[in-house]
Amino acid sequence: MTQTEVRTPPLRETTGSAVGAPIDRVDGTAKTTGAARFAAEHPYPDLAHAALAHSSVARGRITAIDTAAAAAVPGVLTVITHLNAPAMKPPPKISPFNLVSLATGTSVNYLNTDEVHWNGQPVAVVVAETRDAALHAASLVEVAYQRLEAVVDFAAEEGNAEPQKSNALQSGGARKGDARAALAAAPVSVDLRFSTPQHNHNALEPHATTAAWDGDRLTVHEATQGIAWTRGQLALRFGVPERNIRVLSPYVGGGFGGKGMVWAGTVLAVLAARVAGRPVRLELTREGVYRTVGGRTPSTQRVALGARADGRLTALVHTSVARVGRVGGGGEQITSQSRHLYDAENILLQQNLVTLDLLPNTMMRAPGEAIGTFALESAVDELAYKLGLDPIELRMRNEPTVNPLDGKRFAHRMLREAYELGAERFGWPERTPAPGSMRDGRWLVGMGVASAYHPSWQLAANVTVRLSADGGVLVRCAFQEMGMGSATVVAQIAADALGVPVAAVRVEYGDSLLPGGPAAGGSAQTASIAASLLPAAEKLKRSVLALARRSPESPLRGTRASGVLARDGGLYPADGRGAGESYPAILARAGRDSVEARVGSDTRVGAMVSQARTVGKVLNDRRRWVKAACGAHFCEVRVDPDTGEVRVTRWVGAFDVGRVINAKTAASQLRGGIVMGIGMALSEETLVDPRTGRVMNPSLAEYHVPVHADIPPIEVHYLDEPDPTMPLGLIGVGEVGITGVAAAVANAVHHATGRRVRDLPITLDKLL
Ligand code: MOS
Repeated sequence: MTQTEVRTPPLRETTGSAVGAPIDRVDGTAKTTGAARFAAEHPYPDLAHAALAHSSVARGRITAIDTAAAAAVPGVLTVITHLNAPAMKPPPKISPFNLVSLATGTSVNYLNTDEVHWNGQPVAVVVAETRDAALHAASLVEVAYQRLEAVVDFAAEEGNAEPQKSNALQSGGARKGDARAALAAAPVSVDLRFSTPQHNHNALEPHATTAAWDGDRLTVHEATQGIAWTRGQLALRFGVPERNIRVLSPYVGGGFGGKGMVWAGTVLAVLAARVAGRPVRLELTREGVYRTVGGRTPSTQRVALGARADGRLTALVHTSVARVGRVGGGGEQITSQSRHLYDAENILLQQNLVTLDLLPNTMMRAPGEAIGTFALESAVDELAYKLGLDPIELRMRNEPTVNPLDGKRFAHRMLREAYELGAERFGWPERTPAPGSMRDGRWLVGMGVASAYHPSWQLAANVTVRLSADGGVLVRCAFQEMGMGSATVVAQIAADALGVPVAAVRVEYGDSLLPGGPAAGGSAQTASIAASLLPAAEKLKRSVLALARRSPESPLRGTRASGVLARDGGLYPADGRGAGESYPAILARAGRDSVEARVGSDTRVGAMVSQARTVGKVLNDRRRWVKAACGAHFCEVRVDPDTGEVRVTRWVGAFDVGRVINAKTAASQLRGGIVMGIGMALSEETLVDPRTGRVMNPSLAEYHVPVHADIPPIEVHYLDEPDPTMPLGLIGVGEVGITGVAAAVANAVHHATGRRVRDLPITLDKLL
């Protein structure tokens, strides 16, 4: 079986300088040459292909299912429905005390029930010799339903919203003072309603699973953000011990939250492999992703701001309505940024939910803040105009020194500096404030700003670090590399910690046989790994030093652990005086092939202890500190006054993300967030038929994500100041980039045209 083994390209650099350097991705060559195998690319002799048939009603019972035509398609091996599917255990109920349960995409036990819970739920799986035969046959499955009343229209249900229950892992409602009274009394105020549509996941690589049973042992090649969660869920569903399941996911073509949970395709591929008695691949079609993988909740939001004439905020009210599915999904922290961004005297935040008979929502890049910042940061811009203040100046007048809600300290907060840097790079002072006052030929030119904000988070990671006799270092951890640069930054961190060049570090990841890693989510992965990798490297150095000290000939024999420095491929006295010794020399004299250090244990209890310790530390930290990444977006648009066409023509983002581990991959993450945010601002919108609950545009032809021609040069800057409370001072970069983007676009569109668009996406019909 393939193990991900990646050796970095040789680099001419001195050791100790890897962290921060713009190093090329260690997996870049494998990906660009096609050597990298993704989940749907693993060959097996005797491989069969599966395809899904989807329900066409939102809620009901299957009364009859006719698979004869499907079964008659040449090459079809079997058609699995609820009438003949083997029993599976139901998915675990979502609970913060069972992290694997957080990966439950829906509570439906697929093909083990005649009940239908959303329009698109899989009702049959066809297994065939080829994918084409399976897809064609799946289209021939005829299902009759007894329809039950379904509630599917988000807009119509808004009035039935109920307060979102709070939980320890998410921020909920909050109150400081009497914001309603302060709003009513404020000399200047805005009270605005915003809406954002449902968004669906469109990772470059659609979800795919290749599953092979060998007796009661299972191998799964999976496109996932969470190897351990996938393994845990499959073990529960199929009633086999986790140790019998190997999940491999070395290459993932983007996740964005859509591959964080376990969805129908994964479970049904494994089920199909069991039924067919052959390895099975299930590669979702793009439409299949829309029908079976959750997307971002739609929202309506109210933001009301009250201010004194000098711009100081007296009231900040932010409330939201979002939706979950009756069979799953979770509330998002839509008002999370509103707890931290402005020093308002009175604050009222409240999140509400409606429950619909639709595929549950799921995480999508900055769930909550991505849409919450659209409303908040648009409203702040509107208030700035009402006050006659520059929108940056208004923000700076309300920049808090401690957390506005409760006076907690910020672990790190350089939003002011981010605005200064961004304004200078963008040329903000050249902007004339009056809407419609800037032109370029026939184009109206607009410039807008908005703040970015995303909290930081950590999960448990078990790590081993092995030093070999040749001086090479092997880092092993079952983390995931979805294209963010994770493998590269792990090599960089290990290189500096052990004083070896990056080229000497090999990283193994993406395989559940490795020490348990964190899920890739919450922008937490790099910090999570660093928190274990750094102490593992320290342990390793102490073991190596102990070996050296045993020898009377070692120049290190009198050196204490506290007085040793790792550099130039070995250990040296930290005072810089006296000779040191290279790792190969130490290991050779000790007669050792390798030395290994480990942090964390993969026994059942060990894994639980690691998780509990890490989550406990995060929650404890959160009682003391507010930790987050933030930033300032500067957007320039050109709007065609006749057609309403909006082109984003320039972008500058300046971020405070703590220490940057890799200048190139971090900038890519931030830039990618901005690209996704531009899609959210201008084009992305899932259209759900309010009568049938059916997604009407489940394809890239009708759901528009930005293409290259839509994206201007994006300048990304960061302050690179370490956060003193985070491992290596790093704060995650995966999600903060998208936050604030849609508001910056909307604010620029207003500046260009004088029109406020408060309902995303900003399509041209809204500007005419
Ligand atoms: Mo994410 S939405 O934490 O992949």
